[in-house]
Amino acid sequence: MSAHQPEFVEHAFNDRADTYRHSNWHRDYAERLVQIADVTAHTTVIDACTGTGMAARAIARLDPTIRVVGVDMSQKMLDRARHETVHQSLTNIRFVHGDATSLSDVITEGDVDLIVCSAGLLYLPITEALSNWSSVLSAGGRIAFSSMATGNPPAAELFRRLTADTGIMIDDPSAPLGTPGACREHIERAGLRIVEIHEEQVHFTPTDLGSAWAVHERMYTEQLDVLSHDARAALEHRFRSELSETVGVDRADVLYCVAQNRIAIRDEVGPDVH
Ligand SMILES: C[S@@+](CC[C@H](N)C(=O)[O-])C[C@H]1O[C@@H](n2cnc3c(N)ncnc32)[C@H](O)[C@@H]1O
Repeated sequence: MSAHQPEFVEHAFNDRADTYRHSNWHRDYAERLVQIADVTAHTTVIDACTGTGMAARAIARLDPTIRVVGVDMSQKMLDRARHETVHQSLTNIRFVHGDATSLSDVITEGDVDLIVCSAGLLYLPITEALSNWSSVLSAGGRIAFSSMATGNPPAAELFRRLTADTGIMIDDPSAPLGTPGACREHIERAGLRIVEIHEEQVHFTPTDLGSAWAVHERMYTEQLDVLSHDARAALEHRFRSELSETVGVDRADVLYCVAQNRIAIRDEVGPDVH
């Protein structure tokens, strides 16, 4: 099964829902995207692939007049999102279960001002999703998404290198959106205009790194199932020891992209790359 198959995604993230709140880097990554997205009051914002709602809540906290809709296909991630949202007494968010590839079939809000997607677009057919999202945007509405640079995070690259030694080849899921050029291509192919692309880094805490094996084991359970018990234990041992010895695994290169609906855009200016 591949990361683009809905059953795979739903299963993998239902499984991860209870521990996802401990993922410090996902929170930082989502909150930085929200900063870059520059959300304004009295707007309607969709958080596509909202997961446990980290970006959705960061937006909702900015101003009570912002209406936020979080969309995800993992019911358990959404249960967590709802629970935390009630806990924080935020009343300007609703969560919807559905496939974020086709927001036009899932949401009832018309004229969306902004769609954010943190750490989610890699699971979707990218151009198809971006084209569909542009159809629900208001004139001049924007899309802000994040992506790991190709070969990042380093822990994932290490996992792929070590599994390759056992004969299991795993593609880099970051590659399709892993450079400014690749992001630009998808954005333009979907008929959108690039506003800005930021190249930055996110940092991983010791807790994040401590859960890296478990995260990869869950994500690639089908591939790892071909290994014998001993081969799998040896792979885990190598992964954990190389991860603890490798310099630079505590940060990853990432991209934050902002695109805009071309409709009603009068001034064609070039993109800002930061
Ligand atoms: C790595 S998590 C990111 C969650 C959240 N945006 C964050 O920043 O923490 C990816 C999320 O995308 C969701 N997802 C993947 N494919 C999806 C799809 N086609 N439709 C809706 N949600 C999807 C998963 O269920 C998961 O919750």
